[in-house]
Amino acid sequence: AVEVIRTKSALRARLDGDRRAGLRIGLVPTMGSLHAGHLSLIEAARAENDVVVMSLFVNPAQFGAGEDLDSYPRDEERDVRLAGAAGTDIVYAPDVAEVYPHGFSTEVRVSGVSEVLCGDPSRRGPGHFDGVTTVVSKLLNSVAPDVAYFGQKDAQQVIVVKKMVADLDFPVTISAQPTVREQDGVALSSRNAYLTEDERPRAAAISRALNAVRERAVSDELTAALEAGRRILEGAGLDVEYLEARDAETLADVHEVGDRPVLVAAAVHLGRARLIDNVVIDAA
Ligand code: PAJ
Repeated sequence: AVEVIRTKSALRARLDGDRRAGLRIGLVPTMGSLHAGHLSLIEAARAENDVVVMSLFVNPAQFGAGEDLDSYPRDEERDVRLAGAAGTDIVYAPDVAEVYPHGFSTEVRVSGVSEVLCGDPSRRGPGHFDGVTTVVSKLLNSVAPDVAYFGQKDAQQVIVVKKMVADLDFPVTISAQPTVREQDGVALSSRNAYLTEDERPRAAAISRALNAVRERAVSDELTAALEAGRRILEGAGLDVEYLEARDAETLADVHEVGDRPVLVAAAVHLGRARLIDNVVIDAA
């Protein structure tokens, strides 16, 4: 059965023996509301480790003012059951005061890669990725895993976390896993629950647009390909926050597909939901 642990001291006590015994520990950080995308990370962790820890914490520090912190879907009982069925040994589910006790005043910030796309301060207000890197640092310190698993669905998050781990010498491997999609191409997301019956099919335009950009970028100019992609998004009535092509490892600006992979990433608003997705164009 899955063990649910709520404090970092209990977690450390539970894992110390395993670590001394040389067992390999895998960590899957989540905010719960589990879907098949999360479960694919747990399954990857299960296949490669002796002990699988899933963290379940809706991290207030990564939500902007006016974002969906209060309405974010929460169902711990269901999450613990699904996590266990997918192979989790330990669910670490601290409360906010355990993670951010009174007087907490430290922040981990990765400059550069945190300030574009989903971290662009002119679009969302600053600090989204500072909240992510701060909480991921704490989770890595509390669990001390050998490997931590992240989804390529949040491509920028993977890049930011990898940069943090390299810059701060965290002794952990970051493993990125492919995006899990519905039949119609929509990337699974906890926020898809916000879509109405009428909105849900329109979300398929996101992956259609990204795939169109990838296909056209092979033969056409990248800017023309991006314009075509934007027309697909707007044609489905989606409110485009961004559709951009960037270097898939550094997030530097790119103007053509050259000898390095290119990330094509989109964020759109549809009804109550802010949805993101991406594809990677292999180097030419
Ligand atoms: P959350 O949105 O719950 O996502 C947890 C992990 O699941 C992330 O690594 C995310 O990329 C991955 N994931 C989400 N949808 C996926 C999909 N369709 N296919 C594959 N993987 C998918 O991302 C966060 O939480 C938080 O920022 C967190 C890292 C937990 C820090 O608070």
